[in-house]
Amino acid sequence: MALNIKRPNGTEDVIPKNINKWQTVEKVARDTAEKFGFKEIRIPTFENTNLFLRSVGETTDVVQKEMYTVIAKETKFTLRPEGTAGTIRAMLENGLLNDAMPQRVFYILSCFRHERPQKGRLREFHQFGLEMAGSSMPSADAEIISLAKNILDNLGIKNIELNINSIGCPECRAEYHKALKEYFGEKKDELCDTCLSRLEKNPMRILDCKSEICSEIAKDAPVILDYLCDECREHFEKLQGYLKNLSIDFKINPKIVRGLDYYTKTVFEFVSTDIGSQGTVCGGGRYDGLIEQLGSKAVPALGFAMGLERLIMVMENQGCEFMQKEPCNLYIAPMDEPALNKAMSLAKSLREYGHWIEYDVVGRSLKAQMKYADKINASFTLVLGTNELEANRAKIKNMKTGEQFELPLDDEKFADKFDALYLDNMLGNIDQFIIKNS
Ligand code: HAM
Repeated sequence: MALNIKRPNGTEDVIPKNINKWQTVEKVARDTAEKFGFKEIRIPTFENTNLFLRSVGETTDVVQKEMYTVIAKETKFTLRPEGTAGTIRAMLENGLLNDAMPQRVFYILSCFRHERPQKGRLREFHQFGLEMAGSSMPSADAEIISLAKNILDNLGIKNIELNINSIGCPECRAEYHKALKEYFGEKKDELCDTCLSRLEKNPMRILDCKSEICSEIAKDAPVILDYLCDECREHFEKLQGYLKNLSIDFKINPKIVRGLDYYTKTVFEFVSTDIGSQGTVCGGGRYDGLIEQLGSKAVPALGFAMGLERLIMVMENQGCEFMQKEPCNLYIAPMDEPALNKAMSLAKSLREYGHWIEYDVVGRSLKAQMKYADKINASFTLVLGTNELEANRAKIKNMKTGEQFELPLDDEKFADKFDALYLDNMLGNIDQFIIKNS
């Protein structure tokens, strides 16, 4: 009977055939972040809803329209729509900010947003993200942008544009809000209902509205760069100097405001034109007020997150390389019960050497076993029957070259000799991007 329960709209399965793509992106991102001094953190999938109201912001699309919230025993919990709020909560709760500054953490996690699914936009998606707390200097902004660029480069991704902007601090933003209220106030009748309520509370959010009419109106709105205070302007100029020093190309895009409320000063996005309208593969910025807003002493902080699905889409489009695991190292085909017992003990010893070993557990004929070995692309095969067990010797066959090698069947000796032979035969085929089975 066919399964008539399908996966929820906007979610994806990753089947074993494609897992190497995920492992590639995760490994490269993780290794790169560690070279910049970042350490991994893991946080819960759901948090108290108030955490997101206070950090992401009550007037954002994420909070107003996209959160998955449940009430359990009168408390509201929300599946995390992003990683920053939970990560900062965890850093505070575990006293990380009392340690040597800056604190640097990275995470790989799933996020949940009830958006309209489309190519590159999912309801459950995955982020690699990181946060640095304890520096207000523009050199820290340059450091994390350089780290993001490093990850994209190490993945082999090309044609990515870095857009940067500054959205100022609460002081310069007060002036800017006035200008926005004036501008949008004149076009009040055309705004969507959500933006109408944003006009009073948080007019900057209108700039980020996904409705066609609002985004059309927003095109000619005043830009924050014209309202920056001296400190914010200097911060932004210094950042640009550092990026030039690091030879990182960028474009100043005064339209970037980001969809989350916690940002101050620097915001940035890396955008690819290869995957359609949802081309932002990485977004981030500084959020100097968030930690204080969550009840701690003020600590400046900043970070970014990359969408893993989008990175993989760009890599597929650009024909980037993904890590491949070596195929099954040896398939053992036993022809009877005593041979099956031998296959088991040989496999045990060989696996201790780190080899991927399979043998028949289905009770197939020899012919069917060989067909299976071929299908899983086994590098070597070994047929075990009465003759082999009696002689206590057997031949393994290199499936690529057809070459055969006779080995003693004592478990330890066999494993030792197979290990040496395998390395001799296969080393040439293992390029730097192939990882040994572990
Ligand atoms: P964000 O821009 O909302 O920022 O998300 C970061 C990245 O996640 C986006 O650039 C995109 O690649 C991916 N993404 C977002 N929504 C979706 C979706 N519905 N489907 C697929 N991919 C998606 C944040 O989440 C901030 N927490 C980043 C940050 C960290 N800022 C400071 N620290």
